[in-house]
Amino acid sequence: MHHISIIGAGYVGLVTGACLAALGMHVICYDIDGEKIDTLSKGVLPIYEPDLQYLVTNCIKNKRLEFTKDLKVAVECSEIIFITVNTPTLDNSECDLTHVYEAVRGIAEHINGYKLIVSKSTVPVGTGRGIKQMLREMLNASGNRISFDVVSNPEFLKEGSAVYDFINSDRIVIGSENEFAANIMKEVYSDQIMCGVPVLVTNLETAEMIKYAANSFLAAKISFINEMAAICELCDADVTQVAKGIGLDSRIGLQFLKPGPGFGGSCFSKDVRALAGISAKMGFRPVILDSILEINRQQTDRMLQKIKNAVGELKSKNIAVLGVAFKPGTDDIRESPSLAVINKLVEDEASVSIYDPKALNVLRKTHPGLKLHYCRNPYTACAKSDCVVLATEWPEFADLDFVRLKTLVRRPVFLDLRNVYQPSYVKSFGFYYEGVGIK
Ligand code: UDX
Ligand code: UDX
Repeated sequence: MHHISIIGAGYVGLVTGACLAALGMHVICYDIDGEKIDTLSKGVLPIYEPDLQYLVTNCIKNKRLEFTKDLKVAVECSEIIFITVNTPTLDNSECDLTHVYEAVRGIAEHINGYKLIVSKSTVPVGTGRGIKQMLREMLNASGNRISFDVVSNPEFLKEGSAVYDFINSDRIVIGSENEFAANIMKEVYSDQIMCGVPVLVTNLETAEMIKYAANSFLAAKISFINEMAAICELCDADVTQVAKGIGLDSRIGLQFLKPGPGFGGSCFSKDVRALAGISAKMGFRPVILDSILEINRQQTDRMLQKIKNAVGELKSKNIAVLGVAFKPGTDDIRESPSLAVINKLVEDEASVSIYDPKALNVLRKTHPGLKLHYCRNPYTACAKSDCVVLATEWPEFADLDFVRLKTLVRRPVFLDLRNVYQPSYVKSFGFYYEGVGIK
């Protein structure tokens, strides 16, 4: 049985740790945030992620999943150490590697035998090699001859289906410099590999680049369809059918062609910006990457313009926003396009009522100064509203009672930023309706 340590028990670290424990490994998770470890030790999750609670509870019970505040314990008791700390973006668009290097320093301090260090955080190309060099220098400086390997093993987990994605990966990418380390990684993922998940073994740099390229391509699909949506609106075409019409071509594919208020979440903007930054630093202007970001920025203004077109001056208007999570199935609001629209509405002195099935607590905690009316359900949020904005496509918003809604609102205006409804259906209840790229 492999003993695995996870440094950074956030979204990726916790999902990775819990899934590996469920697959039979012994996993110990360390986090710099002691409060988080206290909470997790009691089996309470600081985040909402489907299926994760079940895995964590069971794995704690059968002692395959443990938590520690002591980095020494985490480093000493495992041969395989995953680094899953956050890698935020600096003001200059570069990726902040402070936490990664902090983890490496911790490993150097407590190393007590061969370690395979798995870089899972999304990091600029060259970071794996940098980790290796830094660790070697630190060990040499203290006269330590212990051997280690560094591999890059990017994650492709989508929040809201991260557990499913881990078990049913499309592929496993292992960036390694030698066969020994790559083989250990193959053992870690042996269950998935046995089920037919393809493995791609590359060098360190290629694995790191694959992660950035994958997220950039997915973000490009979204920005592309959002641009098509803008054009469709001008020429009375239906972007939903355009997406289907092109997506059925197997060379294009149907996924990630849903128009909306722009992509959010902790990864897409951060990773596209970081890759654009890396590229620019090397003297190459990344035209596509810059455009992906520019279109996504414009999308907030386009959504705001839709609201203004429908209700006029925003000052003192009541706007009901349904959904603040960056997508359904999560309470994560990082880079949420809904939140970007809400901020602009508040700036323009609209009165905003908000309901989200999972993310209101996180919103309250992270944005205490934002003046909003927090509501218990979609209907209280819509009461006396001049405009209802469906901003996150939670399943419970797909079945709204429009008869009831019509009696509650001040003006029957429904802006469906996720194209959840057929326009004719909403209009049949006497609402003004607008989607993104459909009318
Ligand atoms: C991960 C990352 O690995 C990132 O590179 C990738 O692009 C997206 O997924 P995520 O899991 O979303 O990030 O981050 P977060 O939920 O913030 O978790 C990071 C955890 O690391 C936090 O719990 C934080 O307390 C912890 N941490 C941070 C440490 O344990 N040590 C540190 O030095 C810094
Ligand atoms: C993403 C990647 O999908 C995952 O592989 C990577 O490892 C982490 O980053 P995540 O950010 O959790 O995952 O969510 P994802 O499902 O990719 O959605 C990101 C954003 O794009 C959301 O705001 C979503 O609403 C938006 N989106 C997605 C669209 O607007 N249209 C689409 O067709 C798909």
